[in-house]
Amino acid sequence: MKVKTESSVKKKTDLLCGFVLENSNKVTGLPKFDTKSTLAINQSLKDMEGKLGKLSIIPMPGKKPVQRVLLAGIGKKENLTKDTIRFISGKIAQKVRELKLSEFSIIAPPSFVIEPISAVSQIIEGSKMALYKFEKFKTEKVEPSPNLTIIVSKSNKISKAAKIAEIVADGAIFTKNIANLPPNECTPTTLANFAKSMSKKNKMKCNIISKSELKKKGFGGISAVGQGSDNQPKLIVLEHSRGRKNDKPIVLVGKAVTFDTGGISLKPGAAMDEMKFDKCGGCTVLGIMKAISELKLPINVVGIVPSVENMPGGESYRPGDIIKLYNGKTAEILNTDAEGRLILADALAYGEKHYSPKAIIDFATLTGACIVALGTNVAAIVSNDEKLTKKINESSKRTTEEVWELPLNQDYMDMIKSDIADMKNVGIGRAAGTITAAAFLKNAIEKTPWTHIDIAGVAWTQGSTKEKSYNPKGATGFGVRLILDYLQNL
Ligand code: BES
Ligand code: MG
Ligand code: ZN
Repeated sequence: MKVKTESSVKKKTDLLCGFVLENSNKVTGLPKFDTKSTLAINQSLKDMEGKLGKLSIIPMPGKKPVQRVLLAGIGKKENLTKDTIRFISGKIAQKVRELKLSEFSIIAPPSFVIEPISAVSQIIEGSKMALYKFEKFKTEKVEPSPNLTIIVSKSNKISKAAKIAEIVADGAIFTKNIANLPPNECTPTTLANFAKSMSKKNKMKCNIISKSELKKKGFGGISAVGQGSDNQPKLIVLEHSRGRKNDKPIVLVGKAVTFDTGGISLKPGAAMDEMKFDKCGGCTVLGIMKAISELKLPINVVGIVPSVENMPGGESYRPGDIIKLYNGKTAEILNTDAEGRLILADALAYGEKHYSPKAIIDFATLTGACIVALGTNVAAIVSNDEKLTKKINESSKRTTEEVWELPLNQDYMDMIKSDIADMKNVGIGRAAGTITAAAFLKNAIEKTPWTHIDIAGVAWTQGSTKEKSYNPKGATGFGVRLILDYLQNL
């Protein structure tokens, strides 16, 4: 999909779309049409009343530069959210695909409805992400996606915002694309290769630590979880260094279990296929790294992705094992299905030790308990730093990628104490499963401000996921827009 901005409808367009507020009976920015067409548009405006989500198409008879007009209801002004234009734009784009058009135009809403930069960003993100389809394994020919012209008064700021929105949407789409890959086509090595090739394109440093080195260097968590699979574990480290030389980086860590069978503590069979999405945290980090390198953000960011496949087998780690993590602490394994915290603990400790970062943010499909607590539309955050949480909450409000903080006090830390090792990798029964997992991670960090984001509910669409035009079935890319907003506002 190509995007451009124009200040008015210059050439022929198959479909010209305008947003309509509820009961406003008008679309700002429509060009002048003849009487017949104007009457048709006005009648349609009356019929659809600008109701949120309503789309109404009016064919323009005769040889016209505009073939059809589409009116898109955005509801009452006081009910507009930071997401309305995004998801309505997504609906428009889906309609365009249904009509098999090769291009369409959207008139940006006037500034009394929404600030133009935000409008343009949302139009681009919504339509690009809504048109995304995971079609790599379809043998039938794929329809090319239509090009978009946004009608908006042009300025440098608008062009810049449009460029940024395209890169942000492409980052999320990249994440969706690799997260959607089936586990036979995406191993830790595959992810490492994605990281390598993006680092070459966009001048990042990329270091891949492989199995034998992981073991030698003391990554006990990654080594233990990875040892049961023929697909060898990797630790992917990407460095984006466009900030000042001595500026401490932000470290982003993402869980990438390319398939989580549970290991010896084998998961039940129902819906086990969904555990191909257990790599989503890592995919989010890769999507963010891709976007920041393309945006050339003048900051230092390190992306760390521990990647393993959690399999049962003759060499698997077992319940009862005691392992030593990267920071030297020992962990008693009581359930091999609680593997994410083990590989993350290594990666978090590595990030803190080698980069002395300003902040660490991690993403992980860490606990089923997160879905029980918050459902499938809100991610859980657990943090040791109020200021960092506040910033992430602000970005969450702006991007509508929703998060909710859970507490982490000493009582929770006590719940993962082991009788025979420093920690155990599960809490007590099913109590506070998301928090006890976070408590394990906290033990890996000494002093750095840190926020953990449990994306178990939001990383892919599940039965109870709220339908959103820009999140078609499969991986959602959750976290990419959220953290790119955070990084751009540092
Ligand atoms: N990857 C899962 C968590 C998960 C489950 C995410 C379902 C999304 C949907 C994780 O590795 C896991 O298995 N966690 C266990 C932890 C338990 C054994 C303490 C869980 O949540 O059941
Ligand atoms: Mg597991
Ligand atoms: Zn897992």
